[in-house]
Amino acid sequence: MNFSAFPKKIKIVEVGPRDGLQNEKSVIETKDKATLINMLEDCGHQSIEVTSFVRPDRMPQMADARELFPLVKGLSEKGVALTCLVPNLKGLEVAKELGVKEIAVFTASSDTFNKKNINATISQSFDRIEPVIKDALASGIKVRGYVSTAFGCPYEGYIDPASVTEVAKRLTELGCYEISLGDTVGTGSPLSVQTTLDLVLKEVPKENVALHFHDTRGMAVTNILMGLSYGITTFDASTGGLGGCPYALGATGNVATEDLVYLCETLGIETGIDLMKLSLASEFILGILKKKTTSKFLQAYINSEKNLYIPKPL
Ligand code: HMG
Ligand code: MG
Repeated sequence: MNFSAFPKKIKIVEVGPRDGLQNEKSVIETKDKATLINMLEDCGHQSIEVTSFVRPDRMPQMADARELFPLVKGLSEKGVALTCLVPNLKGLEVAKELGVKEIAVFTASSDTFNKKNINATISQSFDRIEPVIKDALASGIKVRGYVSTAFGCPYEGYIDPASVTEVAKRLTELGCYEISLGDTVGTGSPLSVQTTLDLVLKEVPKENVALHFHDTRGMAVTNILMGLSYGITTFDASTGGLGGCPYALGATGNVATEDLVYLCETLGIETGIDLMKLSLASEFILGILKKKTTSKFLQAYINSEKNLYIPKPL
């Protein structure tokens, strides 16, 4: 492995409050979501995905988005990027009303998944996204773009990296400053990450590419390692390993932020995140959800009574 290509520092986009919680069935109080977001900021997170302005009947856990955002908005004064998912102009109106400074638009490289998730084919999704991006940029709002099913689809299976590249390129041309390639149900492998990055990076500069792995098959950290070898510097992750999309069959949590930070610590890559404080944030939300973490690091940390040896690079 080409360790010399690895970045010295990465940015983590903490998607726990949005991707992490959206699939949870029990109602989480808005104030508890706000506490979680504040705790995540206290860990060192500079980029947090807060919520989404989608149909409340399609995503009930995000129905309090209007109430939640104002509770945490002040964190942007500390320089934290607070992103909200926006599917259409209706969602953008809410974002503008609340003073959101960064949004994420989302589509996929699979028509079948897109139809289930957002009731639109890829082509139809661009008819919606294009005016959203134009209006947002004209209003001084930064826009991030997601390409779901970039490494496989729960309904269509194999996805041609050329389709992923086409969607990523189009989002970039429309003005997205960063494209996050989503491994929606964790079907990515080091080989598919390699093949996909080989093509995508011909069209989108690596500085503008982020990787968003779900750990459904235990491959997320391995896939991140492959991404690092391409010099990718932005990775999405979720506190405690929560996460998943209800419209993706068999979806489970994102890579746990703890596992990503731990990997980086062993490699000498700076993340700016305090692992011990992060574990407190995860334990806080897992306690509310009455769930155990899927994070291997967090399990080991708890089992060792929080006295864990962390191997450092020599
Ligand atoms: P639609 O049904 O096509 O929308 O929904 P429509 O324009 O036909 O409108 C139908 C009704 O919805 C209307 O209400 C609209 O007002 C209302 P009515 O007139 O019938 O009373 N409506 C809205 N209400 C609130 N907010 C809105 C909104 N838009 C329309 N923004 C839509 C299309 C995309 C909105 C819907 O299908 C939806 O909300 N889907 C949920 C999508 C979602 O949140 N998915 C999870 C996030 S993506 C993800 O997790 C993947 C990712 O993590 C990366 C990865 O892992 O791969 C990002
Ligand atoms: Mg996701």
